[in-house]
Amino acid sequence: MISPNWVLVLFQFYIVTNLSGLTFTHGDHVCGYRGNYTQNSAFEKILNRTLSALPEAPKGDDFFYNYTSSNPSQDHENTTAYALALCPGDVQDESCKGCVKSATERLRQDCPKQIKATGWYYERCMFSYSNTSFHDMVNYDDKDVLSFPTASYITNWNIISVAESLENSFKELQVKAATDGYSKRFYSETNILPSSRGNIEATIQCIPNISHSKCDECLGNATNYLGTSYNGSAEGVVYYRYSCLLKYQVYLVQIPPSGSLCF
Ligand SMILES: *[C@@H]1O[C@H](CO)[C@@H](O)[C@H](O)[C@H]1NC(C)=O
Ligand SMILES: *[C@@H]1O[C@H](CO)[C@@H](O)[C@H](O)[C@H]1NC(C)=O
Ligand SMILES: *[C@@H]1O[C@H](CO)[C@@H](O)[C@H](O)[C@H]1NC(C)=O
Ligand SMILES: *[C@@H]1O[C@H](CO)[C@@H](O)[C@H](O)[C@H]1NC(C)=O
Ligand SMILES: *[C@@H]1O[C@H](CO)[C@@H](O)[C@H](O)[C@H]1NC(C)=O
Ligand SMILES: *[C@@H]1O[C@H](CO)[C@@H](O)[C@H](O)[C@H]1NC(C)=O
Ligand SMILES: *[C@@H]1O[C@H](CO)[C@@H](O)[C@H](O)[C@H]1NC(C)=O
Ligand SMILES: *[C@@H]1O[C@H](CO)[C@@H](O)[C@H](O)[C@H]1NC(C)=O
Repeated sequence: MISPNWVLVLFQFYIVTNLSGLTFTHGDHVCGYRGNYTQNSAFEKILNRTLSALPEAPKGDDFFYNYTSSNPSQDHENTTAYALALCPGDVQDESCKGCVKSATERLRQDCPKQIKATGWYYERCMFSYSNTSFHDMVNYDDKDVLSFPTASYITNWNIISVAESLENSFKELQVKAATDGYSKRFYSETNILPSSRGNIEATIQCIPNISHSKCDECLGNATNYLGTSYNGSAEGVVYYRYSCLLKYQVYLVQIPPSGSLCF
């Protein structure tokens, strides 16, 4: 006969071992595919200038940063550095700005001397820089699909039901956004997982000033990508392709498995 204390200990052990799977990463990054710039080059100078100006750049929207600066006519070539940053729409303005500031420093450390890089930091902001424009952002290069798991992979879980719930959530959100003309910063909803095993919180957003059709295309591609790449197997993912951002987080209800207390 197991004493009540043991039941308690086993239950706590169960909770701890399961929650330990939920260690969130505080940042992730992708260091371009363009190689390194040379130290003290014109590009390094203009990049430094761009990155320090980005968080202070005048802008129309509080959660989207876009800054470009050029260094004309040095050594026969014009050097330009492009930088973009985006916060999920529920992140407060000052918090977004602070995140972008820190992210510019973090990404330099995480991708030293890289000509192009993108990072997702502090669960609050996405930041990219490059030597080429992000202008044609929907006709992306496949390598520019950026997605960062924000939590561990789901084990011992009905992946199909998570994948289906997610796909439904994202499709619903896209319809909502299309219906009201993408007038809001972001669209978010929480759905209950099948069998009440927890919730999924899903969020979509596009950067300002892109057409509705571009926004829709980016979001549609993103949903497909999440389906084929993760298929509901990660507890949380943030996905970004310069013109749109999707994210989701699964919050599981901790239920002791039936039968585990009588062995
Ligand atoms: C960007 O960097 C790559 C790699 O060094 C280079 O091949 C390309 O010409 C650069 N593009 C511009 C516009 O400077
Ligand atoms: C780029 O620079 C980093 C850091 O200095 C170094 O580790 C890496 O090997 C370099 N890559 C190339 C292609 O030179
Ligand atoms: C650019 O900034 C980096 C990191 O802050 C620094 O190490 C480097 O010396 C700067 N380069 C130039 C040319 O100002
Ligand atoms: C969007 O476009 C309007 C008008 O062209 C401009 O005033 C505004 O600054 C732009 N916003 C962004 C974030 O680029
Ligand atoms: C970012 O700014 C550049 C230069 O001002 C502009 O050409 C580009 O269209 C802007 N991109 C977005 C997505 O607003
Ligand atoms: C460099 O930029 C300047 C100013 O924007 C422009 O007048 C010039 O034609 C550019 N030169 C080259 C080689 O692109
Ligand atoms: C992105 O969406 C467009 C339009 O719906 C489609 O033509 C294209 O094949 C999609 N690309 C990917 C990689 O899913
Ligand atoms: C997702 O995983 C399920 C179960 O493993 C599988 O049946 C389904 O085909 C997968 N879907 C995709 C898009 O890979």
